[in-house]
Amino acid sequence: MADKPWAGRFTQPTDQFVEEFTASIGFDRRLYRYDIQGSIAHARMLAKQRIITEEEARQIIAGLENILGDIEAGKVEFKVSLEDIHMNIEARLIERIGPVGGKLHTARSRNDQVALDIRLYLRDEVKTILAYLDSLEGALLAQADQNLAVIMPGFTHLQTAQPVLFAHHMLAYREMFARDAERLRDALKRINLLPLGAGALAGTTFPIDREYVAEQLGFDGVTRNSLDSVSDRDFAIEFCAAASLIMVHLSRLSEELVLWSSADFAFVELSDSFCTGSSIMPQKKNPDVPELVRGKTGRVYGSLISLLTLMKALPLAYNKDMQEDKEPLFDTIDTVKGSLKVFADMIAQMKVRAENMRVAAARGFSTATDIADYVVRKGIPFRQAHEIVGKTVRYCIENDKDIPELTLEEFRQFSDVIDADIYDYVTLEASVNARRATGGTAREAVEREIARVREAREKEGSE
Ligand code: ARG
Repeated sequence: MADKPWAGRFTQPTDQFVEEFTASIGFDRRLYRYDIQGSIAHARMLAKQRIITEEEARQIIAGLENILGDIEAGKVEFKVSLEDIHMNIEARLIERIGPVGGKLHTARSRNDQVALDIRLYLRDEVKTILAYLDSLEGALLAQADQNLAVIMPGFTHLQTAQPVLFAHHMLAYREMFARDAERLRDALKRINLLPLGAGALAGTTFPIDREYVAEQLGFDGVTRNSLDSVSDRDFAIEFCAAASLIMVHLSRLSEELVLWSSADFAFVELSDSFCTGSSIMPQKKNPDVPELVRGKTGRVYGSLISLLTLMKALPLAYNKDMQEDKEPLFDTIDTVKGSLKVFADMIAQMKVRAENMRVAAARGFSTATDIADYVVRKGIPFRQAHEIVGKTVRYCIENDKDIPELTLEEFRQFSDVIDADIYDYVTLEASVNARRATGGTAREAVEREIARVREAREKEGSE
């Protein structure tokens, strides 16, 4: 009990089990670097404001730097009796430099300290996640670029709908991940504000300089209300919401890769390094990585719901409940980082089986809409055109024929506006390349998009 910094008003020691039950050191230890970084900035400010002396600040900072080195070298054993990372580091500082170490916590509370640590930590992790998103976007872009001639079936209801470029399909995911990155960059604006200086909840009586601390730590500014500063976790919830959307996108792509790598589709081949075999069926190569990412999506949604529920109806300001914010946040970060990292490599190494895609694209009367559009251009209302082509398709099914195999006479049974030039419209290439407007699947439209994205990425990279 003697080692607890807050033991002053207590007469009974903490129950052993309660001590373990209430401790967060088991998981918040991962914040150590940020805790020390924040404390160093705080000590500098205390000295600048003459709240402590320069010499005291020098001793405190040297002590903290030493502790950082020790933790990194694995030489520090954290104590459950010291509850969390903040008190573990402070106790060690006092142990090392003596009572002057006890001056570090002047004008500060663990409540604003923990809010600071989470923000510093999350800011770093968001930057890493942005870099991983960028790699994945790069891999999708490269697949698009390398397979510009590849045509695949586009689906609705998982039924063959219209032919599309495989590159167009890859770029669809690139769009999703680009929006995810935009969301994270936007969340960063709210993450990157300094909460320190809020004290326990009401501010502090010491003449602190929050702007100075913010500047040292690379924050864009300071939070504006002490009660809000210690009790706001919406920046973390917002991050988890953005992370959930990343997982939505990864799980959709996962699902497609699982389907596409099956023997029945055989559209792609995943590299052996992303698959495993079966212990009983020698022929099998299972798409473990996309399956697992699809599965991990659930835990990220779970964390989002945990955090929302945790914060619901909490009175201002800090409540111990909020210690429960860390594990869902940490797990979300680990899961999203792992999933993005493995996906970028897997997409980069994925082999495209162009011939199988082409054969599948030609099945299922995928150019039927093109005939309807052709008939419409000859002056027939679309509804009537739809009927004409519907009958043509039924004729094909009944006679076991494909659309491009029909003779002109066969076509003309259904409409006499059809001429010999119909054959120019029913090939896969013609169907794809007719969709030229921005956002369409025509090769020229897709090439324009690749160029636009490339240019934007190069500009971003050079900024
Ligand atoms: N371990 C605590 C947490 O993670 C730190 C803040 C504790 N503050 C307090 N007043 N008990 O939330």
